[in-house]
Amino acid sequence: MKPLLRALGVALLAGFMSPAAAGDMRMQPLPPPAPVNAAQAELGRHLFFETRLSGDGSRSCASCHVPSKGFADGQPLSRGYNGTEHFRNAPGLLSVRLKSRLMWDGRHAGGDLAGVVREMVLDAQFMNGEARIVVERIRQIPPLFALWLRAFGGQGGGEKSELRGEQAFLAIAEYLKTLDFAEAPVDRALRGEAALPPLAEEGQRLFAGKAGCVQCHSGPLLTDGKPHRLGVPEHPAIAREPLRAISLLRHYTERGLPHPMSERGDVGAYAVSKNPAERGSFVTPPLRGLAHTGPYMHNGRLASLEEVVDFHGRGGGPGSVLRPLDLSARERQALVAFLLALSAPLAPVAEPPAYDYGSVGGGRR
Ligand code: HEC
Ligand code: HEC
Repeated sequence: MKPLLRALGVALLAGFMSPAAAGDMRMQPLPPPAPVNAAQAELGRHLFFETRLSGDGSRSCASCHVPSKGFADGQPLSRGYNGTEHFRNAPGLLSVRLKSRLMWDGRHAGGDLAGVVREMVLDAQFMNGEARIVVERIRQIPPLFALWLRAFGGQGGGEKSELRGEQAFLAIAEYLKTLDFAEAPVDRALRGEAALPPLAEEGQRLFAGKAGCVQCHSGPLLTDGKPHRLGVPEHPAIAREPLRAISLLRHYTERGLPHPMSERGDVGAYAVSKNPAERGSFVTPPLRGLAHTGPYMHNGRLASLEEVVDFHGRGGGPGSVLRPLDLSARERQALVAFLLALSAPLAPVAEPPAYDYGSVGGGRR
């Protein structure tokens, strides 16, 4: 190509194919950290680990989003609040600020982190909390109350400052924005600074080429933020354990699904959109940090990355939108090596002290 034409081509590419362009299918390195309100994030850090937010003081966010597990919990299906069990896998929370849809069924927009936190605290299946009681309990812990005043009390707000439950949700959302993946080998490779080991590099080529993974797994987190049906088999525990089946039924009723009793299994995004084409589809999960967040898929049905690659390579399960890929054993290994190159060691997470003021809970569970 003539230099002038090449320059023109580059300019056109830069103009029309910016990373924000719809349908952009590229892998991208992690963006810089988000600006946050430091006082709110510090309150949020304390509240994330605070069991007093839950109705009976038995659990905090960190009970189900464990820092040493990339903020997932290592279980196929999440536990629920006492007396309930959940029907989905608890997702990791690192770089969650970059997601465009939240929850496996996409029921919250990415910008609504505080809305997700509100659901987590108030919903009977997660923490069964109550906003006014949360406020009252915080008020009784002097160090937490001081952090609250600093974050929301304003100049001279003092003891009379009115605290609101919504502020707790905002503060935790602010803390979540500070949780980022550390740079992985792939980031350095994408910026052209250091090559990946040969097997992982072969995996990267397959990922973006023959295997077509990048059609759905793109951008800095390797997700398009859209639901797709892969036909992952139901987790047998949902039919076997009445508490999980009841939670799923309750979820359908809350979402206003037309015939909740006649559903067999998790309908995913359909319960949110009511669009039959989305029955059984789940939002593409991010692929960073996978070394820490197994088991995989919306119901933890696949235990290892080898199983996940085999499953995609077979073209998924019944009703899947994937096509079989005919991958050799070496190609499957290369894809796994690439997926692992998307993980970096976890940065240590500073846990606040557990305040012992003798009110509800106060332990760490
Ligand atoms: C009892 C377990 C449990 C507790 C406690 C819990 N979570 Fe969750 N969390 C889950 C599960 C399960 C999901 C996925 C639900 C779904 O997709 O339907 C989830 C989803 C999320 C998401 C969406 C992540 C994504 O990738 O879309 C965020 C953010 C989140 N939780 C934050 C929190 C915060 C903050 C707290 C504390 C206020 C909390 N969670 C408490 C189990 C829990
Ligand atoms: C049609 C879109 C699509 C394509 C193409 C695709 N995936 Fe996925 N992938 C998904 C969806 C959707 C899920 C979650 C499905 C579920 O839980 O029901 C998923 C799940 C995963 C997971 C599990 C992540 C976790 O945290 O649970 C991995 C790993 C993965 N894909 C890797 C790949 C690889 C490697 C390829 C290429 C061989 C690929 N994907 C191609 C949509 C896609």
